[in-house]
Amino acid sequence: MAQNGLKRPTEIHPPSIRYTLLDSSLRLDLSYTVVGPLKIMQSFGKYVLIDHISSGGMADVYRAKVQGIRGFTKTVAIKRIHEHLLERTRFLRMFTDEAKIASRLVHPNIVQIYDLGEVESMPFIAMEYVSGRDLYRVLKRLAAMNRKFPWRLATLVISDVCTGLHYAHDFCSPDGQPQEIVHRDVSPRNVVLAYDGDVKLTDFGVARARDREEHTEHGVIKGKVRYISPEGAKGETVDRRSDIFSLGIVLAEMLTMAPLRDAPNEMVMLLDIRKGYFDRGRIDELPEALRTVIDRAIATDPDDRYPTAAAMRDDLLSRVDAATQPMTKAEVATFMHALFTDDIEREKRSDHKAEQDLVKEMQELADEASGKSIPNQVEMPTEGNPLNIFGGREPGPVAIPARANEIEPEAPPDLIGDLMNQSLCSLFHWLAESREDGRLDLIREPVRKSIYFEEGHPIFATSNIESERFGEFLVADGQLSREQHAEVLDFAARKGMRFTEALLALDVCTPNQLFTSLGAQVRDRIHDLFTWIAGSFEFYHDAKPVDPVLPLNLRSHTLIHEGIQERLPLGVVRKIMREAFQREVVRCGSGIPADLHLSGRQLRIVRTIEDERPTVAELVQREKDEEWIFRLIYMLAQIERVELVEAAN
Ligand SMILES: Nc1ncnc2c1ncn2[C@@H]1O[C@H](COP(=O)(O)OP(=O)(O)O)[C@@H](O)[C@H]1O
Ligand SMILES: [Mg+2]
Repeated sequence: MAQNGLKRPTEIHPPSIRYTLLDSSLRLDLSYTVVGPLKIMQSFGKYVLIDHISSGGMADVYRAKVQGIRGFTKTVAIKRIHEHLLERTRFLRMFTDEAKIASRLVHPNIVQIYDLGEVESMPFIAMEYVSGRDLYRVLKRLAAMNRKFPWRLATLVISDVCTGLHYAHDFCSPDGQPQEIVHRDVSPRNVVLAYDGDVKLTDFGVARARDREEHTEHGVIKGKVRYISPEGAKGETVDRRSDIFSLGIVLAEMLTMAPLRDAPNEMVMLLDIRKGYFDRGRIDELPEALRTVIDRAIATDPDDRYPTAAAMRDDLLSRVDAATQPMTKAEVATFMHALFTDDIEREKRSDHKAEQDLVKEMQELADEASGKSIPNQVEMPTEGNPLNIFGGREPGPVAIPARANEIEPEAPPDLIGDLMNQSLCSLFHWLAESREDGRLDLIREPVRKSIYFEEGHPIFATSNIESERFGEFLVADGQLSREQHAEVLDFAARKGMRFTEALLALDVCTPNQLFTSLGAQVRDRIHDLFTWIAGSFEFYHDAKPVDPVLPLNLRSHTLIHEGIQERLPLGVVRKIMREAFQREVVRCGSGIPADLHLSGRQLRIVRTIEDERPTVAELVQREKDEEWIFRLIYMLAQIERVELVEAAN
């Protein structure tokens, strides 16, 4: 692309995080470090810890963000061993062993380990963050509400955990050696249900594998007592059938909402378990099919149990009927959302805040580094307002007349500017209203995203970020496993096909699914742009995508609505709107674009504005929801349907 004397935003950060495939597992490249101080949240190496998730026997688990180039963040879970255990080499070894064993396991039903690292000699594990709740907390919440655990969810959980377990049990080293991995701590706390319906097994902290040194630990009992197998309780060597036993106990607990074992203390409980005793009466009420599965899973003699987790799953699935057939992923999502509405909201808010703080932090650094002066760019009047929506009408983007006959791709942009002066919303709005054709590039080195417009609406978006490749999107979305992804890439390379063509050729997805996913990804790429508050843009009038594109039916104003309501950092909106708090909101421009899809409540506010010219403060007072009003008014101002004027008196 021709530079044409344009100055890109100063690059002050090291390259973005790179995801590299090592040992077939996804790892984070450690060469990256966060620059600068992070005031609000605790910075931990290259991670920023946002929330404390849990404090278990051995470790603390946090939700954390890892930051790439400005605005690009990824959520991970960080597990770090309790400080007081650091001197105990046994625990330290267990901790690093967990990372070593689990990092080799790549499976949709197992929490993926990314990295074993160290910050100030404190080892930590970085892993896939599962936005959800562990089974223990699901059971607890249901119990508090006096509700039963749905049978259909129980069968899904068991069948998914069986699938993950079987994969781990059968896992072989690259040279084909069976690793004989045993989890040894299959229990409700170690099964996480994602809000979106995934079921994942975590915590291989006491797992055993063939190459794990164990001679110093003979006779030591691993795992939570309530779920332990008789052979485990005796301190004998355990194999995969011990995990099957524990899973049987978990199944019984889910179905009966009561422990299968009860004893005054753990010692008595252990003795009971060694004798193979537990209260079978508690499962008498269950449907015969489920009882049969439990009975076989928790047989005292391992030889009487299912030989493999896959056998347990298959037997369970062959016995289910309409009342017990596993929930679908969508049903689990609905269930989880209903059960944890408050937690989901809280997480969203804290996420929002974290993102916003990070963006702010990075912005301050960028400002410092660049001295705030960005020469050679189209100057827009800003009057102290970063996103330029108040203080009367501003000109639209300044058009640089296109030079005649210059249509080759190297042609300079027809329009350039800075996102600090010209918000993405106002750009989208301007493109829609003037029904532009062409390509809008959004640039924050080294990221460049291009959105192609036809008649003012996006038809396609591309990005140079690795994690935004379509394949990565499908993996993140759970539509493609890592292995399938690699296969498709390999196939495409061998046949000289495009990735999407290979997907279809290999029958990995139908054209219809491909279409839906592409639309979702393009939308995702565009949504992400609304979190940017710094960067520059270039517009290439009449530029067309190289490849023909599918009609994705995206509408500029709909994207503005989604972007402002869901992605734009609250801090940005708040800063601008607080400054305008005492101003009157005055309706202007033509009708509200239908594509904006205002809700009934939002339309009611528009009518109030038309009738009463209220101030922002009055609207907030009336609706009792500052953020909601701020976002709505900000949006209407961005699309030039309201103005904010100084109150007359
Ligand atoms: N990757 C993750 N994503 C979300 N929550 C997690 C994740 N890993 C663990 N948790 C939560 O943290 C708790 C403790 O983690 P775990 O690895 O089991 O540590 P411990 O060894 O202390 O038991 C789990 O019970 C679960 O609720
Ligand atoms: Mg655990």
